[in-house]
This record gives sequence, structure tokens and C-alpha cells, in this order.
Amino acid sequence: MELADQTNQLPAVAFLGASRGLGHQVLLSWQKSFPGTKNIRVARQFKKMETSIFESRENVEVLNWEVDFSKQEQWAGFLERLISHKVQKIFYFAGGGPYGGYATKQTSVPSDKWSSQIWSHHVSFLFPAFLIHHGLSHFQQMVFVGSSVAEIRPDPYAAMYCASKHGLKGLIQSVQKEAEQGKGFTDLRLFSPGYMDTDLLPKNAWPRINPPEGEKIHDPGQVAQIFCDFVSDAGQVNQNMPMPPFQSFLTPG
Ligand SMILES: NC(=O)c1ccc[n+]([C@@H]2O[C@H](COP(=O)([O-])OP(=O)(O)OC[C@H]3O[C@@H](n4cnc5c(N)ncnc54)[C@H](OP(=O)(O)O)[C@@H]3O)[C@@H](O)[C@H]2O)c1
Repeated sequence: MELADQTNQLPAVAFLGASRGLGHQVLLSWQKSFPGTKNIRVARQFKKMETSIFESRENVEVLNWEVDFSKQEQWAGFLERLISHKVQKIFYFAGGGPYGGYATKQTSVPSDKWSSQIWSHHVSFLFPAFLIHHGLSHFQQMVFVGSSVAEIRPDPYAAMYCASKHGLKGLIQSVQKEAEQGKGFTDLRLFSPGYMDTDLLPKNAWPRINPPEGEKIHDPGQVAQIFCDFVSDAGQVNQNMPMPPFQSFLTPG
């Protein structure tokens, strides 16, 4: 990995949303491919079992930080903490939202259900937007995870999630254009997976129970390896990678 180490410290990489799912798998792959890094895992909560497979050892330092990205009051302090730990790469995996019709029948304003919509927007769009706004002059590379499905088409019953993913793609592509004109400071990328077998995809979601003939949803371990190859490819600076919704991409022919 081409990371300057002017401080004699291990180069630090932050995995935001990596207690499970794709982020967890990427950290496993990353540690194998790039052992000489300090890896900071961030999520709302780590269970004991989740931390034990990522112990610090010689030439590998692992830190677990518990932060809630939906809480705007934590954003500035968290960013300062990343900067003070000399983080060079940010990989952002967190995202999600409620599943159900967008309209509410509740009469209270704001309704209880509005807070779930705000949660989705904060975690899937607004906090990434904040990180990009403030981080471009601090970090060498920032990679955000979108969705090759939700960022380009309607996603009924996940409307705010869909809107947030559309927004994230629009924001990143716009900032990449600014970089082309000499106003960017960092390598900013969007990685957009298809359907994956993680907690985020409900057990009864149609891609699980009724995928197109001959298709399967992606294995997050395989997607993680594709993510690591993509982000460490120096020829892909300020480029994006959309994957197809189903597995066929990984098993051509
Ligand atoms: N799964 C799919 O089918 C699919 C398809 C397309 C795109 N994607 C995208 O891929 C990315 C990864 O998804 P995934 O399937 O791996 O999701 P996941 O299994 O739900 O994992 C999400 C990770 O983010 C953390 N997280 C969630 N909310 C957080 C918050 N408020 N503050 C801090 N950490 C938070 C979670 O940890 P805690 O809960 O412990 O905080 C967990 O580590 C997401 O951006 C998702 O939109 C997924």
C-alpha cells in the first residue's frame, strides 16, 4: 500500500460501520492483504465475540470505537478524533432505514415514525456528506458504499433509504467533477454493491425468496475482496464501481 508514514506510526485506516455485514468482511480481507496498518473499527456497539477475532498483534493495531452516526451532536468530535489519530483512509459502510410505506397515519406531529426516516437520512446520507465536506483536505482516500439498486431506481417501501443513496451518488459524482477541475484534495470513490446476504436485507425480501432464474444474492465475503481490490487500485482514483444486483457478475459464463 502506498501510504506515507512520516510519523513512524502505522498508517491508520478507519472502517465506519464494521461490526458486521460488509464492513466486517472488508476488515477481515484488509488485514490479510495489508497487515502493516492500524485499523479503527467503528459501530454503535461491539459484542465481545466480535472484538476477539480482531486482536492487536505485532505490526497490527486494532481499535474499536463506539459511535452513533445518527447523532449529529457526535459528528464534530468524531471527525476530530479521526484526524488526531492521523487516519489516512476512510471506508464508510453504515446505511439502512425502515421498511414500509412512506406515509404515516399517526396524528402526532412529528410522528414517531418520522424519527426513523431522519435516522435513515442521517446515517445513509447526511453524515457521509459531512465527512466529505470536512474530510477532503485531511484524508488521502475516502470510499463510501452506495447501492447499485437503490441509487439508480425507485425502491418502494424504502423511500428515504433510496433517496439517501441517490443523494450520496449525486454528491460524490459532483465533487469528483470539482476534483477534475483542480478543486479536490483527496481520492473520493463510491462502491455500489448489489443485494448481499447480510442483516440489512430482510429474511423475507424478494431477492432472497424469489431471485431471477439462475441468480443468487452476493456473498459479502466475495464482495469484500472486490472492494479491497478496487480501493487499492491506484488506476481508479476518483472512480466509482457499481456491481450488478445479483451474483452472476462473479461467476461469468
Ligand atoms: N445488504 C444488501 O443487500 C445491500 C445492498 C446494496 C447496498 N448495501 C449497502 O452496503 C452497506 C453495508 O451494508 P450491510 O448489508 O453490511 O449492512 P449491515 O449488515 O446492516 O451492517 C451495517 C454496519 O453499520 C453499522 N451501523 C449501522 N448504523 C450505525 C450507526 N448509526 N452508527 C454507527 N454504525 C452503524 C452496524 O453496526 P451497529 O448496528 O453495531 O452499529 C454494522 O456494523 C450499506 O451502506 C448498505 O446500504 C447493502
